Amino acid sequence: MAKLIGKNRIKTAVFISGNGSNLKSLIFFSKKKISPIQISLVISNNKRARGLNYAKKYKINKFSIIYKNKKNAEFLMLKKLKKNNIKLILLAGFMKILSKKFILSFKHPILNIHPSLLPKYKGLNTHERVIKNNEKFTGCTVHMVNKKLDSGKIILRKKIKIYKKDDAKTLEKRVLKQEHKLYPKAIGKFLSNL
Ligand code: GRF
Repeated sequence: MAKLIGKNRIKTAVFISGNGSNLKSLIFFSKKKISPIQISLVISNNKRARGLNYAKKYKINKFSIIYKNKKNAEFLMLKKLKKNNIKLILLAGFMKILSKKFILSFKHPILNIHPSLLPKYKGLNTHERVIKNNEKFTGCTVHMVNKKLDSGKIILRKKIKIYKKDDAKTLEKRVLKQEHKLYPKAIGKFLSNL
């Protein structure tokens, strides 16, 4: 990974839609001496996303896109990515599904973090569903993005126990805390294997 450190950090874009707590932890990670990434761009499909405040605070180039027309939105995003010389995309709570065309056009890796132990519980409302199914464990997964939703190669997972007193809210909080540690760890693992 040594070759990525210092000036050669990989230029990274983080895609968000909401709170951006993962974005915050990724920014902290990118500021570490040993970090292999430099976050150069934050893209949001929602101009009111709270996470955009982190981009502002840490002076990172940000871009919100109106997603009325997916084809147009993706075209504009690809243009931005190219202009900023982005070589890695990190999806962090991005609530839009990228088209196959987008994934094929961006010639570099795209990673995502998902709040379940994939391949179980793909899609939305994972915490509600694990509680409803009386699961004993849940967790989070960092995986590569391919054209099938939440189905790309798994890079790392973190398992957590579900307690009797847990509900979707308490689980969300505990899983998020683990997500903030898992994503940087998975990026390090992924990039050192390239
Ligand atoms: C996280 O649980 C992430 O796994 C999921 O969306 C949530 C985003 O949270 N894809 P935040 O915006 O990073 O706080």
